[in-house]
Amino acid sequence: MNILTGEHLLKFYGGTQERQQIINNISLQVASGEFFGIMGPSGAGKTTLLKILSTMERPSAGYVYFKGQEITNLKEPQLNYLRNQSFGFIFQDFNLISSLNVQDNIALPLVIAKKSSSEISRRVEEVARLLGIQQLLTFLPEQISIGQRQRVAAARAMINRPEIIFADEPTGSLDSRNATELLQYLTKINQEEGTTIILVTHDPFTASYCQRIMFIKDHGIFAELIRAGTRQEFFKKVIQMQAAIGGE
Ligand SMILES: Nc1ncnc2c1ncn2[C@@H]1O[C@H](COP(=O)(O)OP(=O)(O)OP(=O)(O)O)[C@@H](O)[C@H]1O
Ligand SMILES: [Mg+2]
Repeated sequence: MNILTGEHLLKFYGGTQERQQIINNISLQVASGEFFGIMGPSGAGKTTLLKILSTMERPSAGYVYFKGQEITNLKEPQLNYLRNQSFGFIFQDFNLISSLNVQDNIALPLVIAKKSSSEISRRVEEVARLLGIQQLLTFLPEQISIGQRQRVAAARAMINRPEIIFADEPTGSLDSRNATELLQYLTKINQEEGTTIILVTHDPFTASYCQRIMFIKDHGIFAELIRAGTRQEFFKKVIQMQAAIGGE
């Protein structure tokens, strides 16, 4: 079953004079439970595409479907409900709230969803254990490292058991050890909770954790790679594809 479908997506920025086409007729399907990647050179439109797929931005034309239902033109209350119930977000700048401690940052989606405090603390404990940040719950974001912040953002993204996690360069500010750990956690969530993951990156190592990667170039689909053998073999294929695309 496809959990998310994009149909003939277009995105323009700017007025009629200097109109810039950022997404040029991209269609894609993501299966439920997939670990799906989007790659491409800087400025190719990856973040824009992810924002459109996750309802953070509306396309200029085209449609996005979540489990068969068109979500492109939902009104704000329905959109907020969908984002809170079904989606989790990990963006590069984390979007942690600086005045809230780690525990309250992680709990935020459940507070918004008006869950009981016992359920909230049980679930916070569960994801904090999964991500190895139990000992950080009382700290403020500024008191923990970048890698730890990234894991807090991942914990918050998965706290409401979303059906899809959208991640934009989630390893962008991590060293290789923290990046590997985060990717292993995402793989675990994907495999153990069946969470669909849609990840944008320009890093071949990060991308090698995906099962399938769509490459975009000049704002359209350039190619697709499906992982067959080991992660290491896939990593090499990704690098070859990047060389074929050029631009970085
Ligand atoms: N709100 C906006 N208004 C105008 N132009 C924008 C806006 N957002 C993005 N763009 C332009 O759209 C293009 C694609 O941007 P996008 O952020 O999607 O690229 P990207 O593939 O994510 O790049 P990177 O790898 O550097 O993050 C860029 O040229 C950018 O300047
Ligand atoms: Mg980007």
